[in-house]
Amino acid sequence: MKFKVGDRVYGCNIDSKKMPSHVIVEQDFLFHLSPNFSFCEGATICAEYLTAIICLIQTAQIKSDDVVLIHNASEGVGLSAIEICRDVGCKIIATASCTRQQNYLRLKGIHHVFSLKDTEFATNIMNATNGKGVDVVLNFLNGEYLKNASLKICVKGASFVEISNIHLWKPEQVQQQGTDVKYFEVDLDNIFAKCDVKNKGLFDSLKALISRKVVKPNPYTRFDAINLEEALNYLEKGEYIGNVVCVMPEWKFENGNVKVHTPLFNDCITYLITGGLGSLGFTFCKWMLEEGAKYIVLASRNPPNQQQRKEINELNLDGKHVVAVKLDVGNLSQCKALVQTQIEEMGFPPLRGVMHTALALENGPITNQNWERWGPSLDSKIYGPLNLHEATKTLNLEHFVVFSSIASQFGIPFCCNYVAGNYFSDSLAHFRHSLGLPGTTVNWSQWGEVGVSCHMDVPGFKVLSTLQALNGFDNMLRTNQVQLAVANFESFPLFNICFPLTRSYVDEKEWNASGGTDDIGTKSDVIFEQLKKSLIANNKKDRYVED
Ligand SMILES: NC(=O)c1ccc[n+]([C@@H]2O[C@H](COP(=O)([O-])OP(=O)(O)OC[C@H]3O[C@@H](n4cnc5c(N)ncnc54)[C@H](OP(=O)(O)O)[C@@H]3O)[C@@H](O)[C@H]2O)c1
Repeated sequence: MKFKVGDRVYGCNIDSKKMPSHVIVEQDFLFHLSPNFSFCEGATICAEYLTAIICLIQTAQIKSDDVVLIHNASEGVGLSAIEICRDVGCKIIATASCTRQQNYLRLKGIHHVFSLKDTEFATNIMNATNGKGVDVVLNFLNGEYLKNASLKICVKGASFVEISNIHLWKPEQVQQQGTDVKYFEVDLDNIFAKCDVKNKGLFDSLKALISRKVVKPNPYTRFDAINLEEALNYLEKGEYIGNVVCVMPEWKFENGNVKVHTPLFNDCITYLITGGLGSLGFTFCKWMLEEGAKYIVLASRNPPNQQQRKEINELNLDGKHVVAVKLDVGNLSQCKALVQTQIEEMGFPPLRGVMHTALALENGPITNQNWERWGPSLDSKIYGPLNLHEATKTLNLEHFVVFSSIASQFGIPFCCNYVAGNYFSDSLAHFRHSLGLPGTTVNWSQWGEVGVSCHMDVPGFKVLSTLQALNGFDNMLRTNQVQLAVANFESFPLFNICFPLTRSYVDEKEWNASGGTDDIGTKSDVIFEQLKKSLIANNKKDRYVED
């Protein structure tokens, strides 16, 4: 017996036409899941790599000098095929439908990535191969004209491996097109259905790739299984990267009742909360532990005080692993050191989630700002998220969340650096999304029970209770939104009074005292020049953006 009760395993449902809640699988079709991989990651491996092995190793028999064209390469099978081609040493050419998917492939280091919007990819591929063409095509495309275009760029004797199930050709139809190409129609359903314990070759190849660490979990978008319909709609849109994974609910008995819950976080990966000793950061730490997380790194510039140390110790008594580390998130080298070495040195599993909550609040009229006040604010809201993005962009993150404010949407007097910083954070989340990476920004309104603004009176809003805020956030992550305001609006008209967007955000008294004029145009020019001078004069080294 290869396994014992309680072992973490992954495998695949070989009857791919059905999506049952439970399957019985031969133990030969199962593998031990590395302690460093979550179950979601495990779910992205088996069917994808087996398919890629059947197509590329068993069918096309790829060799190191082959040029391989992988269509729809940003999907699970395509990304697995990329790893296999890299292992063999082939030159890879990839296509993808939308810009986001193409960006992701470029980020993964594929130089030749082309769009599937029309057949122009064929011309581009001929140019990229100096007119030679490709030795292997791995085809998922249904459109006949795209398939025809792919056939025309094959070299003599090339292999065209077909795993789409529409517009299939017969071998003689391929010959009639005047090409000397081997056309393989791979019927995956049939192959998987016939898989039995004696069909060892396929599984042995997978085991060999796993032991040589060629197999890497694919990126995925997570859905609760209860939202299966949403997941399938998302899948159908075809804009996802890697896989779409549905997480099954857990059943618990609580006070004599059955409670069904799907944990949002994983207990075998690490989450980083910057500003984690701050009010919202620490509240989130406790909530994430309740929601399934086990390893959390809290990072801020100062060490925890006595009370915070006590609370961390209490959390760890419960079998959790929470640690506070020193980090100035505005410093790129510190971010890279934490992400690339420190977390592993602490004996923590790989980093898979980032919650950026750090904030250095330096409010005041713009004329009162100087670098000493302005710099830390930019560190927390601009350089911070940018450095975290830079330090983690090649990791398979599940979450990259930035805490922003509703202020980025409406402006707020005397908080120009805060507003600009939050707006930047929002944009970064969208930028990451456009690269095919996870990116989420949440525009909070004022929290009422904890947080920097819990004692402030902000007209136009009722405060958010902690429960309201956490519920809003929970919903946002479960539905894979890029940006959401979690806010408690009181009345819309009040907004116009408290956030007059046309007003100059300058303290009149301060301005007059410094000999200013009343002309708004001159004011903004002078302020802009002052600001520019101050930023240039004080620009520090070791920032991600140097000018
Ligand atoms: N509280 C609210 O009602 C509310 C409303 C809207 C938006 N938000 C957003 O939610 C986030 C958290 O707010 P909060 O109320 O929890 O603030 P907080 O209590 O002041 O916590 C912020 C934490 O960030 C840390 N920090 C500041 N600069 C840092 C840097 N360069 N590197 C690493 N850590 C740094 C601070 O610790 P050190 O000083 O030790 O570094 C502090 O513990 C902020 O981004 C804020 O904009 C909050």
